[in-house]
Amino acid sequence: MLYTKASLIVTLLAAFATSAASGPAQETNGQRMARGLPPLAPKFGRNVPGRSGVRRATPAGAAKRNIPSGLPPIPYSGRLEARKEDGSVLGIVKNSNCSSPIGGLNLNNTDQDLLVAFNAPAHGRGPFDIIAINPLFTEPYYVGAAGTTLVNTLDLTSKNTLAFTNVQQTAANSIPVLFTFNDTLLVESAIWSIHRKTREITAHYVNGDGTKPDTIIAYDATQNVLFFVGNITAYNENNDSPASAIKLFLVPS
Ligand SMILES: *[C@@H]1O[C@H](CO)[C@@H](O)[C@H](O)[C@H]1NC(C)=O
Ligand SMILES: *[C@@H]1O[C@H](CO)[C@@H](O)[C@H](O)[C@H]1NC(C)=O
Ligand SMILES: *[C@@H]1O[C@H](CO)[C@@H](O)[C@H](O)[C@H]1NC(C)=O
Ligand SMILES: *[C@@H]1O[C@H](CO)[C@@H](O)[C@H](O)[C@H]1NC(C)=O
Repeated sequence: MLYTKASLIVTLLAAFATSAASGPAQETNGQRMARGLPPLAPKFGRNVPGRSGVRRATPAGAAKRNIPSGLPPIPYSGRLEARKEDGSVLGIVKNSNCSSPIGGLNLNNTDQDLLVAFNAPAHGRGPFDIIAINPLFTEPYYVGAAGTTLVNTLDLTSKNTLAFTNVQQTAANSIPVLFTFNDTLLVESAIWSIHRKTREITAHYVNGDGTKPDTIIAYDATQNVLFFVGNITAYNENNDSPASAIKLFLVPS
């Protein structure tokens, strides 16, 4: 998807107008963490000096380095459907221009459905990137995980969470990388795999020490927040806004 400079500027202005009009200060991430909630998605609308404004990476460019020699990659596109572990459908990952652009579901069409595209190796195993192709939000456009400089690891014993949010592209198997737009956040984009037959999409985060924790995709239905966690039982202990482990599937748009 290509953006002209003019349309980017319009989008940036829209984002500024929205954030300026958004009223009372939001809770800080520190306060959210204290309540056991995942961090808010980072805010955008600012270009970093020395960085080009528009990233024109394509899904093909993003996935190229993960392709085993010989077999051609398979291009996929569609929407991300969240299902409970019993298979019932919760909703489609949202596309909005709020402060949490993709970190929830599009309930009652209050937002739009996020459309994504990616190229996956024929066997489906990543890690590869997933890119948003109809973003209502400003860059970055990859679907990934964001922690803070204080909380950026997942493990089986911990209630630590990472935001499900839009991030810049990071290398396959990379440890968390400083977010391009905010140096208090650490992010990863290339964390995804797909099951060839069921089209289930799974996440595989890499901790700062290179370990690869189980990466549970969780959903807090009360707050309509999607996030990543290592131990959902630990997360739900003494938490007045509990969450459930969910599964994501690629479905046609
Ligand atoms: C962003 O949201 C506001 C209302 O929340 C809406 O008026 C505006 O049109 C939206 N911008 C885009 C690009 O969708
Ligand atoms: C929005 O959707 C949720 C979940 O499907 C439902 O519980 C709620 O009643 C809906 N709200 C409205 C105003 O339709
Ligand atoms: C997950 O957290 C629960 C509650 O704190 C704990 O009982 C359980 O042992 C943890 N799981 C692992 C694998 O450590
Ligand atoms: C960077 O992110 C932190 C944590 O989400 C937030 O509190 C802060 O306002 C952000 N800074 C900028 C410049 O966006």
